[in-house]
Amino acid sequence: MIHPRHDYEDHGQGQVFRFFDQLNSEQQDALTREASAIDLGEVARLFETLVRNPSGGNEALADQLEPADFIPLPRNGGDAAKWREAFETGEAALRSGRVAAFTVAGGQGTRLGFDGPKGTFPVTPIRRASLFQVFAEKIGAASVLYGKPIPWFIMTSVINHEETVAFFERHGFFGLNPERVHFFSQGLMPAVDEQGKILLADKGSVALSPDGHGGSLRALVRSGAIDRMEADGVDTISYFQVDNPLVRCLDPAFIGFHLLAESEMSSKALPKVAPEEKVGVFCRDGSGRDVVIEYSDMPERLATERDAAGELRFRAGSIAIHLFDRDFVRRLGSGGDAGAELPFHKAHKKVSFVDEAGVVIAPDEPNAYKFEMFVFDALPFAKNPVIIETAREDDFSPVKNAEGSDSPQTSRDDQLRQYARWVKAAGIELETDDTGLPTVAFEITPGFADTEAHFVESVKSSREPIVIEEETVLI
Ligand code: UD1
Repeated sequence: MIHPRHDYEDHGQGQVFRFFDQLNSEQQDALTREASAIDLGEVARLFETLVRNPSGGNEALADQLEPADFIPLPRNGGDAAKWREAFETGEAALRSGRVAAFTVAGGQGTRLGFDGPKGTFPVTPIRRASLFQVFAEKIGAASVLYGKPIPWFIMTSVINHEETVAFFERHGFFGLNPERVHFFSQGLMPAVDEQGKILLADKGSVALSPDGHGGSLRALVRSGAIDRMEADGVDTISYFQVDNPLVRCLDPAFIGFHLLAESEMSSKALPKVAPEEKVGVFCRDGSGRDVVIEYSDMPERLATERDAAGELRFRAGSIAIHLFDRDFVRRLGSGGDAGAELPFHKAHKKVSFVDEAGVVIAPDEPNAYKFEMFVFDALPFAKNPVIIETAREDDFSPVKNAEGSDSPQTSRDDQLRQYARWVKAAGIELETDDTGLPTVAFEITPGFADTEAHFVESVKSSREPIVIEEETVLI
C-alpha cells in the first residue's frame, strides 16, 4: 500500500507529515490512520468553493424566498380536530414501538464555558439534574405511559464520547435499560488555515473537529444505528439537541402530523421573538421547496420585514426539533441519492495549531476554517415535509450562553414557569410574578408528570394533597 504521506505531498498537504520522523512508531501509526480517513479531494473542493471562491448568489436567491407554510396551533387558528387526530395517531405510533428518540450531543459547547459534555450540565432548579437525566426521565416516562420501551440514540464525538458513556454508567443509565441506550460517534473534519493547509493540533495529530449535526445522518448509517432501528421495527426518529431541557422528546401530535402526511422529515417552528433572535428561519425557496435559512445567512432586509399586521414576515423560527423517516436517513446518509447530499458550511474559528517550528500556538483571532453540515439542510430533499407550530413555553428554552439570553438562568426560570402553569391548572394555589415566575423554587420531575394534562391527572390521583413549598420536588 502506498503511504498516505505521498498522497498528502501530491495534494500540497505535506506539512501534515512534517514531524513524522520525530514520532515513535505508535504515534506514526496513529497519524497515518487519521490522515488516511481524510478525503483530501473533499477538503480541497470545500476550501475552493466556500473560502477562496464562494458563490456570491445569496442576494438573488434571497429575492426568491417566501415564508414557509406551517400548521398553526389550535390557539392561533389551527384546526383543533386535526390536532386531536394527530395526537391520537402519534400515541398509537408510540404504543406500537415504532418511534426512537435521538439526541445530537457531539458539539463542543464552547459558548457555555462548561468543562464536560454539555449533556452532563446540571440544569433543573432544585435537584440540579443534568440535561441527559431530564431526557432519560422523559423517555422513561413515555415508555411507561405507552407500554413500550422507547430506544434512545445519542450521537457523541471524539471530544466527549468516553466521558458521556461513563456518565451514564456512573448514574445507572438513570433507570433506563442500558440495552436500549445506544451511543455512537460522529464524523470529523480537519481544520485548514487561511491558505487551505490542514492544521496539526500537535506533532502527531491533525486538528480535527466534529462535522456538524448534519453529520448525524451519515453517522446513523455508518454506525449501524439505522440497521438496528430497522431490526427493532423503528421507522420514525425523534431528533432534538442536547441543549434544551424543555423539549418534548416524544411529542404525540408532532409524530401524528408527520405520519399522517407520510412525511420524510418534519420540523417544529415557533414565532421569533425579534428579528435578531438566533434561530434559523423556515422559508420556501424559488423552486417551491421548504428550506431553513440559518440566522447568520438571513439577509437583514428579510429578517426585519413586517407584514400588514405588523408581524415579522419571516417569523417561523427553527428550534432544531425534527422527525425523520428512517429510510430517508438511510438514503441521505449513505449518499445513495444522486445530488442529494448535505452541503458543508464554513466557520471561521480560532484553532490551536503547531507551527513550522513545532510550537503549539493558541491564536487570539480566528485563524482557521472548519467545515460543518447542518441537519436542517435535509429538509429540501424530503418528500411531504411538514412544519408545525409549537408553544415556546412548552418546548424551547436552551442553555447556550453562560449569561444573558439562552443561559442556565433563563432556562431555569422557564422550567419554573412551566411547573407554575401546571400547578395552577390543577387548581393549586401558587404565587407568581407578572412573568409567571413562582415566588418559591420547586421541581416537578418527568416521572411525576411530563405535560400539563398528566400533571392534572397525577394530582387528582395522588393520595396525599399536593403542597408546593420552597424546594419541594414532586417525584
Ligand atoms: C442551532 C441551529 C439554529 C437553531 C438553534 C436552536 C445550527 C447551525 N443552528 O444553533 O438554526 O435555531 O440551534 O437552538 O445548528 N452538534 C453536534 N455535532 C456538531 C455540532 C453540533 O452534535 O458537530 C449538536 C450540539 O451538541 C447541540 C446542537 O448540535 O446539541 C446545536 O449546535 P450549536 O452549534 O450549539 O447550534 P446553535 O448555533 O445554537
